[in-house]
Amino acid sequence: MAQLLVVYESHTGNTRKMAHAVAEGARQVPGVEVALRSLNEVRTEELAGAEGIIVGAPTRNTKVPPAMEQFLGRLRQVPVTGKLGASFGSYGWSGEAPALIRSSLVAQGLLLPWVGVRAKRAPDAQALDNCRGLGESVARRLVGETS
Ligand SMILES: Cc1cc2nc3c(=O)[nH]c(=O)nc-3n(C[C@H](O)[C@H](O)[C@H](O)COP(=O)(O)O)c2cc1C
Repeated sequence: MAQLLVVYESHTGNTRKMAHAVAEGARQVPGVEVALRSLNEVRTEELAGAEGIIVGAPTRNTKVPPAMEQFLGRLRQVPVTGKLGASFGSYGWSGEAPALIRSSLVAQGLLLPWVGVRAKRAPDAQALDNCRGLGESVARRLVGETS
């Protein structure tokens, strides 16, 4: 089974809802085992073992929140070159975090062929669909299918 890790930070639940939808989309794809983890839950072994890592965080003060920044730093301790990645996150007005996460993952050698998904505040039905689509696309690529 290909291992896909969805890691998120969320303060008021909006990015958490997106993370659940991303994982739900990925779980549609046979042959992929999906682990959904908040920042507090994720273990270093899971990072090393995952072939795909999808990272979500809200935008705070036009940035990625500090705890997620720390997590992205932790990723630097793990060989991640060539793994697949994607990013997502809820925002209020400017919404920089998904693009910043994407840049960080690319700089670490992950491959991110997808644009990150953003949702303004609580994700609506369309945003949740986009999240499911993102999870499914990453999972399909992991098992060698294109979508
Ligand atoms: C202290 C603070 C700073 C924020 N800064 C920004 C910001 O710079 N840009 C933005 O788009 N949203 C900003 N927001 C809004 C959050 O990104 C938004 O409420 C989001 O839905 C929170 O997601 P969460 O429920 O996953 O924590 C900020 C919110 C807080 C509480």
